[in-house]
Amino acid sequence: MGSAFSSKKNKKGGGAAKQKGEVKKNKEASTPKPDKATKGSSSPEKQEKSKKSKPTSDSPAAKEKPAKKKDEPAGEDAGDALVEASKKVNKEDFELLAVIGRGSFGKVMQVKHLATGQIYAMKVMRKDAIIQKNQVTHTKDEKSILQKIGHPFIVRLHFAFQTRDKLYMILDYVNGGELFYHLKKEGKFSVERVKLYAAEIASAMMHLHAQGIVYRDLKPENILLDKDGHIIITDFGLSKEIPVGDNEGTHTFCGTPEYLAPEVLRGQGHGHAVDWWSLGTLIYEMLTGLPPFYSKNINFMYKKILSSELTFPSYISEDARDLLEGLLTRDPERRFKGEDVKEHPFFSDIDWDKLEKKLIEPPWKPTVKGEGDISQIDEYFTNEDAVDSYVERSPLNQLDDEDKGMFEGFTFAGESTLG
Ligand SMILES: Nc1ncnc2c1ncn2[C@@H]1O[C@H](COP(=O)(O)OP(=O)(O)OP(=O)(O)O)[C@@H](O)[C@H]1O
Ligand SMILES: [Mg+2]
Repeated sequence: MGSAFSSKKNKKGGGAAKQKGEVKKNKEASTPKPDKATKGSSSPEKQEKSKKSKPTSDSPAAKEKPAKKKDEPAGEDAGDALVEASKKVNKEDFELLAVIGRGSFGKVMQVKHLATGQIYAMKVMRKDAIIQKNQVTHTKDEKSILQKIGHPFIVRLHFAFQTRDKLYMILDYVNGGELFYHLKKEGKFSVERVKLYAAEIASAMMHLHAQGIVYRDLKPENILLDKDGHIIITDFGLSKEIPVGDNEGTHTFCGTPEYLAPEVLRGQGHGHAVDWWSLGTLIYEMLTGLPPFYSKNINFMYKKILSSELTFPSYISEDARDLLEGLLTRDPERRFKGEDVKEHPFFSDIDWDKLEKKLIEPPWKPTVKGEGDISQIDEYFTNEDAVDSYVERSPLNQLDDEDKGMFEGFTFAGESTLG
């Protein structure tokens, strides 16, 4: 058997090696066959391609048209009761500035609130796609969890509103770029950088877990850097409330191939421990350039996650190895978790109180020139026109009355100056 590391070493592009997100939306299969999850997954080369190929999350029925046509009434169906509830803040209050990302159900755009000039990120999701992929509960959980979380390393939700066809979330705009983008450019990070990122992510996970929330989607695409180089975690689309200490709390097969914990692959039920496994995978990837059990072939990768020996390149320190062995322990009961991480020698020079007050200066700072800077975002996104696609109704995407009610309660106006 070739070592886990040597197979990864052959990969070019370092952190670019991704098979992003496809499994994430293959939900609700309680005893999955690994090959089910391969659907739509791509090799790193394909991943590169997929970022450049025409996005598919908007159906062919979707036609691009400017969102802010002066003669267009607020909302796409002003008579709809749900839209009425969104009147306080709605999409007409925002100018679309740039596309900054693509999610499974639509785009993420940088926007400006017209009345205050404040810059935000607007995540747009199509209701028909959410219903089709059985993601209504996850989407509502995403909003309700974000709504109640306040933490220095987690993105803040300011508003959520909806039109007849779409859901909108207005979040802080985080301008330092994805960890994925930086890792892809740099190959790997210095130990000092990894230590701070890992500690900030661990701090966020401990906060979530203490509130009974499991994140379930730690990966470099969902981790952003703020203007000073601190971590901000975004994308709560897979988060779920599970009682603390319950390691068999849920059976949903979800996540992203590289970061899936063995218990998820086995379909045996999982809990908060999955986030510590993913953190181990992420730390390994930041230190070496590739996840520990990486293979182009997803089924082979799953086999490696389940049973391959964990190996390290020679430059990985004893402390880092010990931490990674603890986090990448296959038995979730024996795996390192919060306090084990916090007290581990790898983090011996981290002052956790200072860390949580953002008083530790990051060893690396993105070069951004102001709040609205988009220079740290892949041009593949920013080259796109910032438009909110118009959903044309066809028998295929018609939402019936029952469907409309599914998103009741989504609308939210946080404590903000916008209100
Ligand atoms: N608040 C934000 N500030 C800046 N960029 C953001 C913000 N939120 C999301 N993004 C960008 O948009 C991308 C897609 O958003 P998000 O991950 O929330 O969508 P998603 O539907 O869960 O995507 P996927 O399923 O592919 O992971 C992120 O990877 C990130 O690059
Ligand atoms: Mg994401």
